[in-house]
Amino acid sequence: MYVEKILVVDDEASTRRLMEQTLRKQGYEILTASNGDEGLKTVTDENPDIVLLDIQLPGMDGIEVLQKIREINKDIVVIMATAMDDLKVAVSAMRLGAYDYINKPFHIDNLILIVNKAMETSRLRREVATLKEERSRELGIEKIIGISSHIQGILSMVKKISASEASTVLIQGESGTGKELIAKALHYESSRRERPFMAINCSAVPENLLESELMGHEKGAFTDAKAMRKGLFEMADGGTVFLDEIGDMPLQMQTKLLRILEERTFRRVGGTKDITVDVRVISATNRDLAKGAGDGSFRKDLYYRLQVIPIYLKPLRERREDIIPLVRHFINYFNEKFRKNVKSISPAAEKLILEYSWPGNVRELKNVIERVMLLGDGDVFTAEHLPVEMTSKGQEGKEAFTFKLPPEGVSIEDVERDLLKQALDLTSYNQTKAAKKLNIGVDALRYRMKKFGFL
Ligand SMILES: Nc1ncnc2c1ncn2[C@@H]1O[C@H](COP(=O)(O)OP(=O)(O)OP(=O)(O)O)[C@@H](O)[C@H]1O
Ligand SMILES: [Mg+2]
Repeated sequence: MYVEKILVVDDEASTRRLMEQTLRKQGYEILTASNGDEGLKTVTDENPDIVLLDIQLPGMDGIEVLQKIREINKDIVVIMATAMDDLKVAVSAMRLGAYDYINKPFHIDNLILIVNKAMETSRLRREVATLKEERSRELGIEKIIGISSHIQGILSMVKKISASEASTVLIQGESGTGKELIAKALHYESSRRERPFMAINCSAVPENLLESELMGHEKGAFTDAKAMRKGLFEMADGGTVFLDEIGDMPLQMQTKLLRILEERTFRRVGGTKDITVDVRVISATNRDLAKGAGDGSFRKDLYYRLQVIPIYLKPLRERREDIIPLVRHFINYFNEKFRKNVKSISPAAEKLILEYSWPGNVRELKNVIERVMLLGDGDVFTAEHLPVEMTSKGQEGKEAFTFKLPPEGVSIEDVERDLLKQALDLTSYNQTKAAKKLNIGVDALRYRMKKFGFL
């Protein structure tokens, strides 16, 4: 068990002894030092939770020691001990980051009270530090799994962008390909990591609220604005704003966003003061924004402004090498989460997983692994609990396949092109395999690929 440590730095042996005896009874481990140098050495060697620091010390005085402790570790809680007439010094010590002070001679109960309160703060600081570390471990670049050259390329791009000053990044890709994961990695790998990552889903916020969500509002700006509220851009100052589903942002808001991006200043709704912020704006969408910019549903100038740095995430079926590493990753993840001990994948399950087209991409894969691991027992990942769409299609398909002609008819060319595209996607453009899926020869496949512009 972790025993909390308190360092007492005081030149008077009697004070040290009294503090030591009192606080040891409270269950703490007590270390002592009689001057600043000795104290600082103990701080470095033992990393105490709290330091009780006398202000008047021979040699280096308490204030100087306090400053040095803060340089070594800002999370250490320092309580200054002072004689009555030192009040001014005590106040300036507080300004320099001391947590509290205690007057000498002190009352034992008072010492206990102050130290216990300080220890509570120390525990919180420790907890926050641990959570922060866990968070960056969970969201950093090492959580992005993939051996394909595509993902490796993305990873090196994430590293470069994180280290740069680039202010806008646009991530495009089908649903579930990992756009949000990349956005978070960009934030937590950058020097902005200590500042907020603020996300908003543009398609989930009603149009009339979006502006005040992003830019905030002044008190009384509209009926429900009972108090001033900061918007996302202001709250994220120094950090990152993540605009998810940007393709669904209404045109009017697009105009306002463009202005923020160009000028880096804005006004709260109903406000008159210009607010300047330093944020990186990462946007994501599963829509084809280039197409939107072409047909007028998305502002062209905003599109160009957003995609200063574009990242495109390929669907999983076009980077099949990543499937098995991802499966392993999620098996480990759910082993821990569900306290299971799955060690291997059966060949039948592996085959089905590799053949499936994963229309929902990595999210779908993750959900399937979760389900199989919840339902299954034992240490082998088997095909038994895989969803029907993965297991039945192949076998049943052969006999049962009929194409139901819609009443309004269909273009046979379109059907042919669509089937061809599916076969190619499913096989990562391996022509031999694609031809086999369509039960035609490779030459016939190549002929059709040319005809439909795939070659
Ligand atoms: N390369 C990857 N390595 C590990 N986990 C991944 C990877 N790609 C995606 N994931 C996981 O898959 C899930 C879906 O990813 P994410 O939410 O980032 O997708 P998205 O592209 O934002 O989807 P949508 O467009 O539906 O919002 C998340 O749990 C994410 O952690
Ligand atoms: Mg998303």
